[in-house]
Amino acid sequence: MELKFILVTGASSGIGKEIAVQLSKTNNVVLHGRDLDRLDEVKTLCGSKNQYIVWQQDLNKVDEIETSLTSFILYHKVVIDKIVHCAGYMKMAPLKISSLEVLSKTFNINVISASLLCKVLTQKKANNASLSNIVFISSNISNMGAKGMSAYGASKGAIDTLMRCLAVELAPKIRVNSVLPGAVLTEMTQNIFENVEVKNRMEATYPLGIGEPNDIFQMVNFLLSNHSKWITGQQFTVDGGRSINISG
Ligand SMILES: NC(=O)c1ccc[n+]([C@@H]2O[C@H](COP(=O)([O-])OP(=O)(O)OC[C@H]3O[C@@H](n4cnc5c(N)ncnc54)[C@H](OP(=O)(O)O)[C@@H]3O)[C@@H](O)[C@H]2O)c1
Repeated sequence: MELKFILVTGASSGIGKEIAVQLSKTNNVVLHGRDLDRLDEVKTLCGSKNQYIVWQQDLNKVDEIETSLTSFILYHKVVIDKIVHCAGYMKMAPLKISSLEVLSKTFNINVISASLLCKVLTQKKANNASLSNIVFISSNISNMGAKGMSAYGASKGAIDTLMRCLAVELAPKIRVNSVLPGAVLTEMTQNIFENVEVKNRMEATYPLGIGEPNDIFQMVNFLLSNHSKWITGQQFTVDGGRSINISG
């Protein structure tokens, strides 16, 4: 019988790295990213009782994804029963300087790859139709608005609608949910937080302060577990109270 693995995309950095390392303590994990050196470093942090293998794939190259993941699964003789799609791309740009290149890249990595990955993982021939649980890492911008964030925000709105459609289409065998983080300090947000004025302004709007990757892992872990067995098709905002704060 094939070993079961959880695939974590974007496992080389930030939130995905935390999720992969924490999950590796009790699960076999496929660590995904593009940079093998960064993924080797993540391996050193993973638990020793379970297995972890690396899948290297640029998710902007959407025409490669189905073949690449299918070959990877068949080569390693594993099945993937859960996926956390955490890989993400964010480029802040006002509409007047938006470009087809940034729009395509944002949607390729954040949305289209997620749909193609789920397609492969639900196939009998590729993955023995073993998939039972999907978690997408969206963003609290999915239900909000912000200047310079139209491409990224639209992609996160799209992944949440993909989540709801798949939740209906793939039930009852597969549960699908998304987690919507607020600001978490990672490589993606490093530039924003380096500006002390912006950092202070942002912190003031977060009743519980800025988040840590582990805050997101806790919700993901709940959704991957049987404790959430009657939950599908839902957005879970984890943002330290940012989205309910209407203080002036
Ligand atoms: N940090 C926040 O405040 C925040 C808030 C809301 C939502 N999120 C969401 O949380 C998720 C993780 O973000 P993060 O803050 O942890 O960011 P991060 O530290 O920058 O990590 C991004 C991850 O995505 C991967 N990735 C980027 N481009 C890729 C590509 N073309 N192909 C394959 N993988 C690619 C990176 O892998 P490489 O090593 O290959 O670059 C890396 O593992 C994202 O979906 C993001 O939108 C973050």
